[in-house]
Formats: sequence, structure tokens, C-alpha cells
Amino acid sequence: MTNSSYRKDRVGGIVIVAVFVALVMGMLGLWTKIRHDVNTPIEIHLLTSDPKQAADGEVNSENTEGIVISADISKHWQNNPDTPLQTYGAQYDLVVYDNSGYDLVNWSVVLNIPERNITLDSYWNGEWVYDKQSDIIMFTPDDRIETITAGDYGTFGAIMISRELMDITEVTFTGSRYKPITKYWLFWLILILFVVWITSVVAYILYLNREKNHRRIAEKLNNVIDQTMRTFANFIDTKDKGDTKGHSSRVAYYSQKIAEKLGMSEEEIRDIGYIGLMHDCGKLATPGGILGKPGKLSAEEFNVMRFHTTNGGKILDDFTEIKGIKDGALYHHERYDGKGYMEGLKGEEIPLVARIIGVADALDAMSHDRCYRKHLDRETILSELETNKGTQFDPKIAQIVIDMINSGEIFV
Ligand SMILES: [Fe+2]
Repeated sequence: MTNSSYRKDRVGGIVIVAVFVALVMGMLGLWTKIRHDVNTPIEIHLLTSDPKQAADGEVNSENTEGIVISADISKHWQNNPDTPLQTYGAQYDLVVYDNSGYDLVNWSVVLNIPERNITLDSYWNGEWVYDKQSDIIMFTPDDRIETITAGDYGTFGAIMISRELMDITEVTFTGSRYKPITKYWLFWLILILFVVWITSVVAYILYLNREKNHRRIAEKLNNVIDQTMRTFANFIDTKDKGDTKGHSSRVAYYSQKIAEKLGMSEEEIRDIGYIGLMHDCGKLATPGGILGKPGKLSAEEFNVMRFHTTNGGKILDDFTEIKGIKDGALYHHERYDGKGYMEGLKGEEIPLVARIIGVADALDAMSHDRCYRKHLDRETILSELETNKGTQFDPKIAQIVIDMINSGEIFV
């Protein structure tokens, strides 16, 4: 898995968990709010006797929560005028205005009566109960007004007989607030979050599946490339009977170790492995008699032999996807002092990949049997690398290999 797809996987996971946490918090908040609204009774005291003021919400009480009550005498008359039994009959109209944004439920009203010994003549839209001891009337609405919907109002009233007309100014309203869940803005936020969350989860699952597929295909392709390269390298090694089996693979391995020490990127290290596998592909065009000849080559044979670099360059001419693969074949026999072949390039004129392959190639040649000689021992190899630092080999790369042999990282 690449770092970037790992990062995307993680970010996706974090977003889903974060939205889920926000969703749960939102639901908890909404649940708490609804329970609080329903279970917290409100109690409001009057208020005003002016219905117009009440309807406009203009009242002199505090904390009315948008609920205003007006009490008003709409008509009145005298009974037994100018006698000791003179009383007043009056129609008392009360209105509950609900501007609270909630429906009002389970509500009732208590009215304090300023007069003693009133007579409750008749009433409507609810039950009026007169408590003579306390001079209060308790009102409970009937089913016509027992729920006052948000923005609406409920009216109720009574005809009462009393010695004087009464100004009803002390009214206590108690009730509960209710509103459908869809009226809470938090509900819509939760709904949006839920849609976002579900969409994210589905998208994330699809993304993970696609990534998994991509990774599987990429892995397979990489394996195919790797196996193709190794198969081709086996061709080369089989042709070059003089070299021990696996020469190209070992050169690839040493080159990758050197590339690691040089701090190359993961991709460059992978590529130099392929460059190592292919460095001697030009030998496919070299006559077998020369490649497998025990003993020293004649000058003419050596001249033919040298061309495996040029031929390698030609074979790999179209292989542009792996940067430096052609250079590895063309220049791996150049020497740091300029005395190599075919171009006689010197120092850093020789591409870095070719300098790496050059040292790796020489190391494998020294540490394994060849048709013309047995492998060299560890001390001799170290001394050869040391002696040829800066002449045959790039001194920095030769030193890296010396260090790896000494530390046991490369076993010879
Ligand atoms: Fe070579």
C-alpha cells in the first residue's frame, strides 16, 4: 500500500467516525431538549387586561416564554340597582396567546379573585371551579382548547356575579410545551448528518473495494514484471555459461543494497534491481564460444565480448519506463578513471546507475567462480575494492561496499 492511499484510508475512516460522533451527540442533544421541553412545566403570571396588548405580546411580566394571557370584561350589567342587594353581572373573557413556538398541552389556569362571595353563573370552553376559601378559580380547558397550537390562541370565559366589577390581574398559567420533532432545527441537522454519514460509509466501502482491487491488480502486474525480468535474466545467465547461475540476480541484489545506502527512493531502489537484472542482456548477442571460454580471451575475442554493452543498449532502447535501464547496460564496464569501455567515460560522466552496477558486477565476479578462475577470498576482495577505489570504481560506492562487507551486511 502506498503512503498516499494509506493516508486516504485513514482520513476516510476519521471522517466517518467524526460524523458518526457528531450524529450521536446531535441525537443525544435533541432527545435531551425534547424531554426537557415536555417535562419542564412552565408557569406564567399575568400580564395584562388589554387583549390588544396581549395579542401584540406587550406585557409587563417577565419571562412569559411567548405566552400571554389577557382577561377582559366584554359586557356587564347591574342587578338590584340602588338597593343593598346591588350586584354586578359581567362576562369575563380570557384569551391565551401562544407565541412560544411550541404547542401548549396539559395546561390550566388559576385566577385570583379580588372579591369575596362571587357567584359563578356559567362558563365555557372548560371547567371553572371556585374555591371560596382561597378566593381562587381553577380553570381546566376542555377538548376544544386543551391543545393550543403554536401561533394560535385559546379563549375561555365565564359569567360571574359579584358586588363590584373585578379587575382580574392575577392569573397563573401552568402547562407543558410540545412540538413535533420535525419542528426542531436540530432534527434537520441530524437528518443531514445522517445522510452525509450514510453516503460517506457507502463511498468509503466502495473506495476500499476499488483500492483493494487496484492493489491486487498492481501487485499482480508488479509480480508479472518481476518474474518477466527474472526469466529474461535467467536467459542471459544461461547463455553466459561462464558465469555462475544467478549472476544477474546477485548484481541486482548488491545494486539495491548500494542504492539503499545512497539514500535513494523506494522506486529508485526497485528500478535499480531491474537495471541490475538486465545489465548483461547484450550477452544474448555474444557468441557462446566466447562467453564460456575457459582462460583468457584473445584481443579479437575480447573486442567481440566488449560489444555486449552496446548490444545491451540497443536491446533496451525502447525500454523507457525504467529510467537508466539502458545506461546500466551501456556503461557498466566504464571505469572511474576513464579507461573502461565502450565510451571511455570518466568519473561522474558515467551515469550513477552504471557506476553502481559496475561495482556490484565486479563484486559478484570476484566472489564467485568464473570459467577462467576460482572465486577470490574475502580479504582479497576487500583489498581489490580498496586498491581500485577511484581508478576502476567510484570511490564512494566502493567504500559503501567495503563497509557492508566489513559489517557483515554483504557476505562474501
Ligand atoms: Fe557485463
